[in-house]
Amino acid sequence: MQDTIEKLISLLKRRGFVYPSSEIYGGFGSVYDYGPLGAELKNNIKQEWLKEMTQLNNDIVALDSGILMSPKIWEASGHLSAGFADELVECKGCKKRFKQGEVDGEKCPECGKELLPPRKFNLMMQTFIGPAQDSASVAYMRAETCQGIFVNFKNVMDSSRVKIPFGIAQIGKSFRNEINPGNFIFRMREFEQMEMEWFCNPNDSKTPNDWFEFFKEKRIDWLVKMGLKRENLRLIEVEKEDRSHYAQRQIDVEYNFPFGWKEIEGIHNRGDWDLSNHSKFSGQDLKVLDEETKDKYYPHVIETSVGVERLMLALLCEAFSEVEGGRTTTTQSAKEVETLLNIYKKIAPVKVAILPLVKNKEEITGKADEIYNLLRSEFKCQYDETGSIGRRYRRQDEIGTPYCITIDFDTLTDNQVTVRSLETMQQERVAISELINYLNKEINK
Ligand code: GAP
Repeated sequence: MQDTIEKLISLLKRRGFVYPSSEIYGGFGSVYDYGPLGAELKNNIKQEWLKEMTQLNNDIVALDSGILMSPKIWEASGHLSAGFADELVECKGCKKRFKQGEVDGEKCPECGKELLPPRKFNLMMQTFIGPAQDSASVAYMRAETCQGIFVNFKNVMDSSRVKIPFGIAQIGKSFRNEINPGNFIFRMREFEQMEMEWFCNPNDSKTPNDWFEFFKEKRIDWLVKMGLKRENLRLIEVEKEDRSHYAQRQIDVEYNFPFGWKEIEGIHNRGDWDLSNHSKFSGQDLKVLDEETKDKYYPHVIETSVGVERLMLALLCEAFSEVEGGRTTTTQSAKEVETLLNIYKKIAPVKVAILPLVKNKEEITGKADEIYNLLRSEFKCQYDETGSIGRRYRRQDEIGTPYCITIDFDTLTDNQVTVRSLETMQQERVAISELINYLNKEINK
């Protein structure tokens, strides 16, 4: 299984999805950059999430708050205290650090020397604002995007037409000084989160726990729609002692990665932890009025939080496969292995490849050019005339392009092209005048 992830990582580098950060300087601790295809894929995932949250729901609105915020926010949220810290053990000899629990016994797994007693290590990343670098100028890179939502909760209520219950959704970068980042883009120090905070009245007949169940189901349905097999997902109800410091209830949604079951999304009942603490620390009244009882109360919060890159890795693992001997008659030899990235069509980085059958016939390439120009305003397209047609199909298959269009000599007389589906391998002749409709229907199925 480890083999699969290594092959996938190599494909992602080779085809311009993911690069190690600062590679020409020897890399930079667990940060990654996203190449042309990776950037498209990430954007498509984010767009689908935002659509699910803010377009398909009337009562969830978007927000884009700053990465840097008042340090008081992190005091209020509890992130500067022991609740947001990992236990770290350090080796006396090689100085390597490990997360407590990841080492067995009292000896360093790397060099065998003695380990120092565990100590707490806060995960917040610090920086300084302004020219002076003293305690008064300390600021933090946000460790979760949702704090920007909580501190803008009143602004959103006062400036838009939302009424409780409603949600605020936000996508953005988060930073954590992880002790042991790893598993490629699974655990990093800089990553993106897609978080939705649902504010509800704890005294309503639909209780916070009912909303928790509601969003839990919705999130699973969405993850499956995005292409994760239901049997590769499991829900872990987290016991009190292991929950995040703000959570009254917590479910970790885990995916069956080639390196084991790991969390991709968290669903949390945060109660009134955030709003009540921000009220206390800021001195602002963040309570709202119950229209029926006329009492004021802190709304309770149900949160869904998923990492863009973690989800992307899960989707890539699910989509990746190798077919020995190949699926097509165009495979060069029985020994050749075809790589497929059968990814959910809507998020595929390239939707359509335009492949003229030959490259040295002006009529064919001219027609292919015409079709490329017709389609590119609707879909992300790639034009490719280099190499044999079989090789060009395989190049598209390994980046997950759902449709390949070939333009041949018949096209010049019947104005039709051959459309091949990555998923089914079926080929269909489609009239050029019908292509946009056809592809829209197929991609949005
Ligand atoms: N606001 C709640 C929150 O941040 P979390 O369980 O700490 O909850 C939510 O994080 C999600 O963010 C995780 O399920 C994961 O997908 C992603 N995430 C967290 N830490 C990460 C890291 N170091 N690298 C990549 N993704 C991470």
